[in-house]
Amino acid sequence: MTITFRQLTPALGAEVSDVDIAGGVSNPDFAEITQLFNDYSVLVFRGQYIDNAQQIAFSRRFGHLEGTVRSNLGAGSEIAVISNVDLETDTILSADDWRNVYNSGNEMWHTDSSFKRVPAIASLLSGREVPPEGGNTEFATGRAAWDDLEDSLKEELDGLIAIHDFAYSRGLIRDDLVDEAQRRETPPVPQAVIRRNPANGRCNIYAGAHASHIRGRDVEEGRTLLRELTERIVQERYTYTHHWQPGDLVMWDNRCCLHRGCPWDKAKHRRVMHRTTIAGIGPTAA
Ligand code: OGA
Ligand code: MN
Repeated sequence: MTITFRQLTPALGAEVSDVDIAGGVSNPDFAEITQLFNDYSVLVFRGQYIDNAQQIAFSRRFGHLEGTVRSNLGAGSEIAVISNVDLETDTILSADDWRNVYNSGNEMWHTDSSFKRVPAIASLLSGREVPPEGGNTEFATGRAAWDDLEDSLKEELDGLIAIHDFAYSRGLIRDDLVDEAQRRETPPVPQAVIRRNPANGRCNIYAGAHASHIRGRDVEEGRTLLRELTERIVQERYTYTHHWQPGDLVMWDNRCCLHRGCPWDKAKHRRVMHRTTIAGIGPTAA
């Protein structure tokens, strides 16, 4: 079987067809998927009714998997469960349950694990139960944003280092969501503001909600610059919106694009998403 694909928007995204992830992906097909991932940043696979073991096995072919952050739902495993359902009772959480509030951090434009010293390469999100309306996931590419930067700004950003901080970003939602133990587990880390993919030489802006300030600059001044960079990335023409259907598996490149979840009627409709996360291979800044 040979895979086929179609581009989703001019800026990013490809829907990949003629793939059966549960049944097994051949090495040549896998090599092509890797190439598409590097070129299009967001890959959509429809009709993939996979279980956790199959998701983990496919994900591992891209690299080592991250464990989930302590105190998140389903912590300590290679599958992060992002849902509005209580795992033990299998009932829908009340809209104001702290877990829904905590997960609403995903509704800010961000890139996964940029608050870790070695940030994630990719995430694979499997829609196990999706709501009939709302709950889309939006993606925006930092590549087009970099391509469109004025030369003077490209020069200014070259070599700049941002400090990313999970406690900062979750603190924007509510100040009691991150406890002391978690603060110690995820101390602020340095990340390059401009990144380059060695596979194809494409550069991109790297920012998002976890980016707190700029090393060596006044905090508020750096924060303003980072917000401005994030705003440039998320312009509508650089985005793709994914409308979930059951069986969808969506994979994205955390090195060069931002994403965010969209609200839905959380008190009424179940939404259960299982995520695997491919760890990076080294830090982006010293
Ligand atoms: C994630 C995430 C958004 C969503 O899983 O990393 O940000 O739409 N999810 O569930
Ligand atoms: Mn995310």
